[in-house]
This record gives sequence, structure tokens and C-alpha cells, in this order.
Amino acid sequence: MAEAFPTLFSGITLGPLTLRNRIAMAPLTRQMAEADGTPTDEMVAYYARRARGGLGLIITEGTYEQAAYQSRAYLSQPGITNDKQQAGWAKVMDAVHQHGCKIIVQLMHGGRVCDPRTLYGQPPVSASATQSGGWTLYTDNDYEKQIRNISGDWPKVTFPPARALTVEEIHAVADGFAAGAKRAVDAGADGVEVHGANGYLLWQFITPKTNLRTDEFGGSPENNVRFARLVGEKIRAAIGPDKLITLRLSQDGVDDFVGAWPGGVTYAKAIGQALKGSAYDALHWSSFNYLDNRDPADPTPMATVLRQASGLPLITNGGIADGPGAEAALTSGAADVVAIGRPIFAHPDWAYLVRSGVDYPWMDFDRKYVIRPPLDYAHAYPLGLVDPEWPQP
Ligand SMILES: Cc1cc2nc3c(=O)[nH]c(=O)nc-3n(C[C@H](O)[C@H](O)[C@H](O)COP(=O)(O)O)c2cc1C
Repeated sequence: MAEAFPTLFSGITLGPLTLRNRIAMAPLTRQMAEADGTPTDEMVAYYARRARGGLGLIITEGTYEQAAYQSRAYLSQPGITNDKQQAGWAKVMDAVHQHGCKIIVQLMHGGRVCDPRTLYGQPPVSASATQSGGWTLYTDNDYEKQIRNISGDWPKVTFPPARALTVEEIHAVADGFAAGAKRAVDAGADGVEVHGANGYLLWQFITPKTNLRTDEFGGSPENNVRFARLVGEKIRAAIGPDKLITLRLSQDGVDDFVGAWPGGVTYAKAIGQALKGSAYDALHWSSFNYLDNRDPADPTPMATVLRQASGLPLITNGGIADGPGAEAALTSGAADVVAIGRPIFAHPDWAYLVRSGVDYPWMDFDRKYVIRPPLDYAHAYPLGLVDPEWPQP
């Protein structure tokens, strides 16, 4: 059978890791862990189900990597900070690997946008002493609103003022990332992704409007990425050369869905150049539409700019919903791998559905899916979509 999307379904080597195709599942927070951050059997089933759907790579949901420095951002967020959490992740890794899919753990630190209920009265930490303008709670769950003491259709969750990390603390937090990475690979992960996107701690350093520092960790694109580079280097020292390390970047934050870097493409170019020669094997562009770069002067997708400036392979995410869209991202020079978020959440067999060429009624999305999905997305999909002529892993 002729392959409809030959680039998408060709293998690729990213750093030390070879993937069977160029489809990655984007990181999606599900808040399905135990209250103590231990991954649940429900999570094992959820990830295994998507691995079975034919993906090349799974990037897990954002996972807190250290107990100190108010890293945890969400209730029921998984962690990778102790033996119990590590053992839970080991079950996820085993189940995913049984389906021929690779998996890396996304390590994240919430910084100034941690859910206040995870802070236990401590101030959140950030690049500088700033305060987030708040985060819209996408929920239709009245109980959730009641316990947060907020109301209305699109209520805002507010965050306490953050304090700036000292240089010593920056090094300690980077050590925490390395310890989490070591645990992730000891649990069987094929590597880790460092979360430098979407409004969380490393984004707060990379983004000029939240980084007001005047020391070596602020004030220029090179300085703004210095913390992310340090985290990468410490992780590489902890896990060695045989595991994948990626860095996720974005303009948006969870508290700023229309974020734009000052200087747009020019800033992206400088960030890409500043990441040359870093410990990262690949970069990952995060957005809701990778073609929307928000630079009125230059429409080049940020992923393309970063790919050229850094010389690193790009995992590109945002609004890629079907086979033609994925193939176009790859052949246009904007991506080496595509990361698909909501469509794979809703359609675990996304890869096989695309490859089969069936005309499939893709699901529309509701923004209020984080806490309580309005539909049971795990319903049965047509099986038997694996063509015997396709090369198997
Ligand atoms: C429910 C939900 C949870 C998310 N959780 C994470 C996360 O943990 N880490 C992360 O980097 N991005 C997270 N994102 C962003 C997605 O990875 C992705 O960037 C976004 O969904 C756009 O891609 P898509 O159009 O393929 O869905 C989340 C998005 C959604 C909708």
C-alpha cells in the first residue's frame, strides 16, 4: 500500500533515540495521580492505550521534579521525587514500551503560577519578584469553583506574589531537575523534556516581561536562557549521553494566551542561537497554532526560526490535527517531528487512523476539559487499522 504521508511515517533519530515515526504525543496535564504525586494504574492504562495507537514518542504530562522550591503546580499532578513515585512511573514506562513506543518525562517547575493550594503558605518562586495576572479556570465543575471561592462562567484563579530566586537557589533548582531526570531514566524513561514553555518557571526566565534580573540570568536573550542551559547540562551529567533531552519553548503562558516575544522573530533567532551547543538534543515548540507567530513584521513560524538558528531538530506543536497538516509541517521545514495534543487525547488511535486514510469524524474540543471531560474519550475505536504491509516496530 502506498504511504499517504511518507515523511510522517518515516523513522527519525533524535540525539541518541530512534523513533519509528515522527508522531509525538504532546504533554497533557490530566491530574490523574494520587494526592501524593504517585502515578496511578489509570495513568498506566491511559498512556499504554495511546502507545498502542501507533505513536513514535510520548511526552508525558508536566511532572514536578523536586519537593523543594514549590515546584508542584497542580493538585493530583504526578511527581518524580521519591521511590514511590518512581515505582509508579516504572509501570507506565513498561506498558508503553510493550507497544514499541518511546517515552520521555516532562519535568516542570510551576514558578509563579502554581495553584495556591500546592504552596502551603510559601511564596512561589520566579525569575523576579512579580505577580501573575491570573489563570482562567476551564471547568464546569461547581464544586471546583466553590472550594476555590470563585464563581462565574470563566473564573480566574489568582496567584500570590512571587519572590526572586537567588543565584545559589537557581543552581539548587537545576540540581533538583537533574535528580528528577535521574529518577525518570531509572524508572525506564527514554529521556526527559525540560519544560521551558507555557508560563512556568523556566519560561518566566526566558520571557523578557517576567525576567527583570540584572545579573547573569537576565537582561539579554543569552542570559535569559542561561538557567535552561544550566538545567540541561546538569541533567546530561546525571543521565549520560544515551538518553534524549529536549527543551520546550513557547510565547504563550497559561496566564497569557496571547503572549508575544518583544522583537518576535528576532528574539526567537537569538534564543535559538543561544541554545546552540547546549546539552539539548532537540527543541519543542509549543503553541495552539504553530503558524501563528504573532510577529507582524515576519510571518516565519517560530519553529522554523528556532530550527535554523539553533541547528537542532524541532518537535513542533500546535493546531496540527490531521495527516495533511502533519505532513505539511514536516516538509515545510517547520518540524522534524510533530507533537499532537488534544487530537491524541481524544483519539488514542490517531496515528493508525491517519495512516489508514479513513475519513474519520474528528472530535471538536471544549475548553472545559481539564477537570472533567464532557465525554468519555476512551470509547472504542475501530480496530484492525494496522495494515500488515506497514513496517512494524
Ligand atoms: C488539557 C491540557 C493539558 C496540557 N498540559 C500540558 C503540560 O502538562 N505540559 C505542556 O508543556 N503543555 C501542556 N498543554 C499544552 C499542549 O501540550 C499543547 O501545546 C496544546 O494542547 C496545543 O496543541 P494541540 O493543538 O495539538 O492540542 C496542555 C494542553 C491541554 C489542552
